[in-house]
Amino acid sequence: MLQDCRGLALTTVSEQAAAAFDHAVDGYLGYRADMAARMEALLAADPDFGLAHCLKGYLALMGYRADTVPMARTALAAARHCAGTPREKAHAEALSHWADGDADGAVAVWDQILRDHPLDILAFRLAHFVNFWSGRVDAMLASVLAVEPHWSTALPGFGSILACRCFAHEEAGYYLEAESAGREAVRQDPGDLWAVHGVAHVLEMTGRRLEGIAWVEGLQSRWDGSNNLKHHLWWHQAMYHLELGDYPKVLSLYDSGFRDLASPLTGAMPDLYIDVQNAASMLFRLGRHGVEVGDRWTELADKAEARIGDCRSAFTLPHWMMALAATGRDAAADAMLAGIRDFAGGGGPLADLVGGIALPVTRAVLANGQGRHAEAVALMRPVLADMYRMGGSHAQQDVLEQVFLDSALKAGAESDVRLMMERVAGRHPVPPARRRGYAMGAHLLAA
Ligand SMILES: [Fe+2]
Repeated sequence: MLQDCRGLALTTVSEQAAAAFDHAVDGYLGYRADMAARMEALLAADPDFGLAHCLKGYLALMGYRADTVPMARTALAAARHCAGTPREKAHAEALSHWADGDADGAVAVWDQILRDHPLDILAFRLAHFVNFWSGRVDAMLASVLAVEPHWSTALPGFGSILACRCFAHEEAGYYLEAESAGREAVRQDPGDLWAVHGVAHVLEMTGRRLEGIAWVEGLQSRWDGSNNLKHHLWWHQAMYHLELGDYPKVLSLYDSGFRDLASPLTGAMPDLYIDVQNAASMLFRLGRHGVEVGDRWTELADKAEARIGDCRSAFTLPHWMMALAATGRDAAADAMLAGIRDFAGGGGPLADLVGGIALPVTRAVLANGQGRHAEAVALMRPVLADMYRMGGSHAQQDVLEQVFLDSALKAGAESDVRLMMERVAGRHPVPPARRRGYAMGAHLLAA
């Protein structure tokens, strides 16, 4: 049998297809923007290549949007028909779970694949990604610790293992281990965006803002041809500037970096979940500091209205609502809540997550935007400890904690201010008084 570049068997008779599969996986690992072309070449080389159909299905689900799920199911049918080895059949089952909104089910299959084939970097990287968007830091860490003894610098893709080692340790709070792994990955490949990103998180969480600005600025010349992750890196750069109080620079990065809609090649994608999270969370933060953001919410609100009823990305829902609340689109906001309730009634793990956590948080965001602050606090308080299950990093989840704090401060709910300050002080290495979004709370409690 033919093999991939790490020696795993592939059910294809085409050497060209095997090479194209490696090229496509490399593109996925490297956040390349030309994945459609890579996949087209791969399936043209062998239309009956089961693992290639799995990859096509996985890519369709990575955008976390409802209208690409049918494409994933079509790919799944082809994958099941063509898969040859037990590993390839297992990938098809993982794809089936993920398409059904059963993230834990998909990860369980990828974990089993990795026990048998620790060099299956596709299974590893997908488990890392889906665990992250499920808030499973423990599973991210366990996964990298399980496979890394089998890896070495001699194997293609080792840099991705290091990059994931970095991010998993960072989210778990092990900043020294994280930074070491991330910097080594970047030393090996300065264009490794996930490693750059992991170190950027270390610098964010440890309050090293000037180092963070230098880190991101110093590497961005390597990002030509990369996908939307570079927008998220510009968002991280803006987060450092926000903490320095340089709001004009934040807005400049918003317009010319992570929300540059005028430039289709380099700009943010109009409604991709991560781009929406970047934009909405930054505008919300700026609003808390009284920064005039002009009509920037309007285009986000337009996209939010177009996505009413799409609940594939639980963590994006409160971000959509921020845009509807900021623009006073009350009817659309009510329609979005109705869409979330409908989805939550559908049954299954994702519906349960959306109904149990995303719904009250999204309602709280709307209440915050409409000035019903005591209600926002009451909606959010019961789910504060579970919000992480919607996914997103600590740096991203932070904006939801700021929603709670903002409403608690405006409602004069001192015990709730204290509740949030104790949460963030206990977990974040930078004292709240040195964080712009929490300084007001720290000042209140110190008085
Ligand atoms: Fe990030």
